Amino acid sequence: MKVQKPNFLWGVASAAYQVEGAYKEDGRGMSIWDTFSHTPGKTAQGHTGDVAVDFYHRYEADIAIMKSLGVKMFRFSISWPRILPQGTGRVNKLGLQFYNKLIDALLAAGIEPHVTLYHWDLPQPLQDKYGGWLSDKSIKDFAMYAEVCFKAFGDRVSFWTTFNEPWSFIWIGYGMGTHAPGRCSDRTICAEGDSSKEPWVVTHNVLLAHAAAVERFRALVPHGNVSINLNSEWSEPMTSSVADKEAAQRNLDFVLGIYADPIYLGDYPASVRHRIPDLPEFTAEQRASLKGSTDYFALNHYTSRFVSDDEDAIPTGLTTHIQHNGKAIGKQADSEWLVSVPWGFRRLLAYVHRRYGAPEIWVTENGCDVPGEDQMAFPAVVEDDFRLAFYQEYLAEAMKAVSEDGVNIRGYFAWSILDNFEWADGYTKRFGIVYVDYKNGLLRHLKASAKFLAALFAPEPAA
Ligand code: NOJ
Repeated sequence: MKVQKPNFLWGVASAAYQVEGAYKEDGRGMSIWDTFSHTPGKTAQGHTGDVAVDFYHRYEADIAIMKSLGVKMFRFSISWPRILPQGTGRVNKLGLQFYNKLIDALLAAGIEPHVTLYHWDLPQPLQDKYGGWLSDKSIKDFAMYAEVCFKAFGDRVSFWTTFNEPWSFIWIGYGMGTHAPGRCSDRTICAEGDSSKEPWVVTHNVLLAHAAAVERFRALVPHGNVSINLNSEWSEPMTSSVADKEAAQRNLDFVLGIYADPIYLGDYPASVRHRIPDLPEFTAEQRASLKGSTDYFALNHYTSRFVSDDEDAIPTGLTTHIQHNGKAIGKQADSEWLVSVPWGFRRLLAYVHRRYGAPEIWVTENGCDVPGEDQMAFPAVVEDDFRLAFYQEYLAEAMKAVSEDGVNIRGYFAWSILDNFEWADGYTKRFGIVYVDYKNGLLRHLKASAKFLAALFAPEPAA
């Protein structure tokens, strides 16, 4: 399959807790993911991010790998507890120093840093003190932390996001309980379901924290660009019935619109409000602070689902499926939730373009794991045909979205540069375009997918 050369920039992505390690070094405080991963039974084989892939000590060599691939941008997150070990108050100079060194090394290599402030590692002291995101005290504390980062790094970093994938950390962390902080409000999953209100309270606080941080951003980094990384699967109606079409739209409302609509359109989607009486209301002032609080659309995308209407499914009234009439929607990846559906990417891009006023879109995550990859060893493991095909096919669809649907894609980040700590799945799932040999000194080896992306995005030789 021949893919046209994309006319947008490419980059690679990572997140602090998934790659850094050095969890007790240089004054770093503890986060809810340290607590969670150290709690028996919470992660695959009890894996933790204590060492992770040791990016904290190996960032220079990893930047050299990026440079050799011709990567133009690197997306990473800042560990809040490295900067503010207690979550608030005293700033840890060594924490600032690490990110200063990282940013300077990236710039020296000609790689643009894209910084995410929150990729799920809330300082544990804030969880202990007032229940973390469940309390509206978190809004002010997040804005203060953001301010410290804007002041320290805003002179060199132009691209920022506040939160990574609120849907994921809220649903998995507060609905299902299988991510930190392990709150389970969904009574169909845990008999002791504590409170069905928690995800909605957290949603509201996180949106307001985003708005509060952006307000400070506008004052402190006036020439910068800020957004929030929102993830969504594409929702394809299971049949052409009106009920299924509405259910598919409702799924997009519950996954994406619940965050994107207040920011781009001014309020929660009506379908969500209708089904969630506990969803808090915004005041007029809050609505105004959210509306227009991004400079670009930061979209994370992996997979798609068929959706059917199902009034018994509380509260969404829908069910998602990976098959219809015995036919799979796409190719199954290693993670159960991930099915490769390239055409769904194009439809999602066109949907975001239509619904949210033709924004500049930066795809801030896209990628996959490979069936059985974890059972393979170097060197066979780097022949990752499944991942190579995934990138080839998803990028071909993105290019169609650009040329045929008028979507304005500016940048594209592969998730991830390195195999890393895949949350509750620990190191058993690998998303890297670079293999990390966990049994052999954490050595790095390029996979075929990395070479493919490097060649695809390489500048045309001058004629
Ligand atoms: C979304 C998250 O942002 C990232 O942390 C995770 O590793 C990937 N998806 C793959 O699941």
